[in-house]
Amino acid sequence: MCGIVGYTGHENARDIIIDGLKKLEYRGYDSAGIAMQSKGELIVRKQKGKIANLEKTIADEHLYGTTGIGHTRWATHGVPSDLNAHPHVSGDGSIAIVHNGIVENYVELRRQLTEEYGVVFRTDTDSEVIAHLVSVLHKGKLEDAVLEAVKRMKGAYAFAAISKDEPGKIVAFRKDAPLIAGLGRGCNFIASDIPALLKYLNKIYLIENDELVICTPEQIQILDQQKNPVKREVLQVTWSLEDAEKEGYEHFMLKEIHEQPKAIRETLTRRLDENGRIRLDGISLTLEDLEHFNKIYIVACGTAYHAGLVGKYIIEKMARIPVEVDVASEFRYRDPFVDDRTLFIAISQSGETLDTLAALREAKRKGARVLSVVNVVGSSVARESDDVFYTWAGPEIAVASTKAYTTQLICLYLIALYMADLRGTISQSYYQEVLAELQAIPDKVSTIISRAGEIEELAKYLYNRDQVFFIGRGIDSAVAYEGSLKLKEVSYINSFAIAAGELKHGTIALMEPETIVIALATQDFLFDKMYSNIVEVKARMAHVVSIAKEGDEKIREESTEVIYIPRCADEVTPLLSVIPLQLFAYYVARERGEDIDKPRNLAKSVTVE
Ligand code: M6R
Repeated sequence: MCGIVGYTGHENARDIIIDGLKKLEYRGYDSAGIAMQSKGELIVRKQKGKIANLEKTIADEHLYGTTGIGHTRWATHGVPSDLNAHPHVSGDGSIAIVHNGIVENYVELRRQLTEEYGVVFRTDTDSEVIAHLVSVLHKGKLEDAVLEAVKRMKGAYAFAAISKDEPGKIVAFRKDAPLIAGLGRGCNFIASDIPALLKYLNKIYLIENDELVICTPEQIQILDQQKNPVKREVLQVTWSLEDAEKEGYEHFMLKEIHEQPKAIRETLTRRLDENGRIRLDGISLTLEDLEHFNKIYIVACGTAYHAGLVGKYIIEKMARIPVEVDVASEFRYRDPFVDDRTLFIAISQSGETLDTLAALREAKRKGARVLSVVNVVGSSVARESDDVFYTWAGPEIAVASTKAYTTQLICLYLIALYMADLRGTISQSYYQEVLAELQAIPDKVSTIISRAGEIEELAKYLYNRDQVFFIGRGIDSAVAYEGSLKLKEVSYINSFAIAAGELKHGTIALMEPETIVIALATQDFLFDKMYSNIVEVKARMAHVVSIAKEGDEKIREESTEVIYIPRCADEVTPLLSVIPLQLFAYYVARERGEDIDKPRNLAKSVTVE
């Protein structure tokens, strides 16, 4: 939540920072701001709303400075407003800070600063305390003040500070929120996320927890809390600038839906050796390990959790190990049965979701082995896991997750097949069959995308309804949850997903003439059961849109519309059936005129509780 960018060099920081912030707007977009060192003073401009508002406001001003920090906000403490926007500045105007995360003891710090130093607070944020705290502790060097300040702060955060008296210097500190430093030519950067810097560089340092960065145009120094220098390997970033640009697409969500064939292919083929067998780079699971585990937990949030639901079906079916799936915010507080015989799988696109990270730590504390499926290299979840299996989705910018989901699924299929093969719970022919099915997926996804026009037409017809139900059985029910989440988060239509067999235990009471029901009926072995559920809702005059495999003609009898996916094995249908649902959500939201890439109240990465 919230994006941070800092630049120090020889060019005007203003445009570089604004440009970087635009790349981070998916992290929060309720206000934005910038602070720069200029002629021995700090210039600060901040404004409620999108970065474009700020940009417009400062367009005619001659703002110049070669060192500065910027911020795009997702409000936690205090409403979105000009005042609550970052940067926050100390009372004497000497220190400006931008902050991502939460200062948990801000109330206590506010009281102390008011009583002991007479500080007057101007905002409702927790962040403002950092500016005042650093300022009252600033006796010599900014880095010393920051290190003193963080001794008094509790919470999960990353922040960057500049002082009017130390030209060319940005000091940043990380504790449980993402922070990177970027090596430019004659300039250096700090940022919360890689996309902000892709235009300028491809070499970064990943900053670890409890580390301080001092950034000047000449160098980047990383220090621990005792001020010992930290030696860090430079990380070469493989993402390209184009990955973080819309490249002619109207929205990032649509671009990312279209990128799925490529992302799936990348994630898959990098894990197949020359003999067509799975090679799990980054994972060191042996047969002995697998025999030792008596249970797998898959824990995640939102869309990643929905990928986990599919994971349960396939791991249990193929590897025959019991799997529990839980949302991270529940898992972390319910004292789950976890011990050293548990394999804990965390799934996270960003690798920074606080609940997922906390659940992972809880599982580790109880002795579990932790394997994570993550998209962002070097993210917190990746770093704290015993084994990491990266999705090769490239940066996902739209808040609504699409290509991260399908690549997470690919990773779970590979993990399931790999485990099953080691344990001998599947035959070699089945192993090869499923692998061949997976290899055929990218082209089949392209086929579905090439028929997006049909879904667009359907969306034009249905976009103004106020309620949609998603139903399915077996692995289809897992996809129903994802379809429902996609629709509600971008279109704001009230949608609800349920295992179809559960309908008659209550929810069917909501069926009325013209209620929209999206029925996933892709499982051959459950087809008759699902058909009966469709008949039940159709009998209540529902408008049924079925998702079925090509060739299933019978389903037309009871469906108002049918969207066909190419034929494939039952096991791999989620990789295809989710595509029309993503497109449906996208086109409905577009028809309704919603801000698709930046839905209200949401942010891409939820780094607060
Ligand atoms: O970065 P993560 O995968 O950990 O994020 C988890 C959820 O916050 C995320 O999937 C969210 O549900 C998306 N907005 C869904 O589209």
